[in-house]
Amino acid sequence: MPKTIIEPFRIKSVEPIRRTTPEERRRLLEIAGYNLFLIPSDAILIDLLTDSGTAAMSTEQWAAMMRGDESYAGSPSFERFRSSAQNIFGFRHIIPTHQGRAAERILFGVMCRKGNIIPNNTHFDTTRANIEFCGAQAVDLPIPEAHEPALLHPFKGNMDVTRLMALIEREGRERVPLVMLTVTNNSGGGQPVSMSNIRAVKEVCARHGIPLYLDACRFAENAYFIKLREPGYAHKTPIDIVREIFSHADGCTMSAKKDGLANIGGFLGTNDDALAQQEKNLLILTEGFPTYGGLAGRDLEAIAVGLNEALDEDYLSYRIASTAYLGEHISREGVPIVQPPGGHAIYIDARAFLPHIPPVQLPGVALAARLYVEGGIRSVEIGTLMFGEHATMDLVRLAIPRRVYTQSHIDYVVEVILEVWRRRAEISGLEITYQAPFLRHFTARFRPCCHTASAV
Ligand code: F0G
Repeated sequence: MPKTIIEPFRIKSVEPIRRTTPEERRRLLEIAGYNLFLIPSDAILIDLLTDSGTAAMSTEQWAAMMRGDESYAGSPSFERFRSSAQNIFGFRHIIPTHQGRAAERILFGVMCRKGNIIPNNTHFDTTRANIEFCGAQAVDLPIPEAHEPALLHPFKGNMDVTRLMALIEREGRERVPLVMLTVTNNSGGGQPVSMSNIRAVKEVCARHGIPLYLDACRFAENAYFIKLREPGYAHKTPIDIVREIFSHADGCTMSAKKDGLANIGGFLGTNDDALAQQEKNLLILTEGFPTYGGLAGRDLEAIAVGLNEALDEDYLSYRIASTAYLGEHISREGVPIVQPPGGHAIYIDARAFLPHIPPVQLPGVALAARLYVEGGIRSVEIGTLMFGEHATMDLVRLAIPRRVYTQSHIDYVVEVILEVWRRRAEISGLEITYQAPFLRHFTARFRPCCHTASAV
């Protein structure tokens, strides 16, 4: 079998990307106060800021969009969306939302009260923020291996079941209205959760009568890791594995901007009739009627098709291999990354990459800025800037949009990172000149530390 990773698709429509010079990028970076969120996207060559809402749609998705029925109520597009999601996830109620965080807000609005505790392997920022907004507490219970970037473990996204049991016993079942598991664990490095861990978490939940909800954004990538790594699953199809995963869950939140291969959309799934009624009432208040939930009929059509395309084995094997290729080609030259490579992204360990820059001088932001100047690549810091002094790691995430970049784009990214790695001693830290009172990473501005102009 030939070893070259090839994209399992042909390209029918192309979108030019603009080359810029290092001088131009240095100037744009200064204007943007060294914050890559503030750079216009047409001055970015390879945009690895996020894998969310950035996928390329297929011919079948574009064709389905033309069938979009924009009726306010009872649209057949909703029927196609619901039947596609039900066929894969199996939940009795599928409630459409404009994206994942809208599903979270409705779920927690209905299920959480002040003083409640919601455990997860690791909460994504919007999940945590929506829980805290209800006056409840979001608790992360990853396995201890998740805290060591270089350590290899096949299912580093697993939840620590012993700590879950201890938490429920200590705090009392009545304080825990639901348990969540994020597949794959984005904040923990895009790492998968094993079927046996999902089963074990469900057993604990069932013993206490607590519902288990999955944050399903990257359900297909997680299922494929189970096929590759967990004994007994090698011969199963991704959809069978997904059905088994979700048979253990009482509901889910979903952002279709990831494994839905759509540019917008999401849903809330549940088997509980009474909850579904309350959730639909809230939906009508802020998102829209339950047959569109803030989406156009054509968006529902794109998601209905995309959810199935994400389960295609040729696609998944290329997707996981291509992300691993990037990780392996930089780590074998010594670049420190979160190991093993995740499904949707590679996370560079910026503290290990730039040991001469202390966390207060934001090594992740400095590295992301240098990758932009060197090669026009946009990444994102996940560390001291994002989480303040609570950050235990300073990571730079390179998230790979689905079906957008080719292997030669990935080779280019490898080349740029290795060039920056060779010249890492030249990079200096940054200090903050402006920050907003919350979510400061989006708008903060910086300048090179000690006013050395050569910082990045
Ligand atoms: N849960 C997880 C695990 C996520 O990664 C995201 C979004 C959400 C929920 C929220 O979904 O954006 O549709 O409201 N993650 C994006 C990212 C933003 O870049 O990782 P949303």
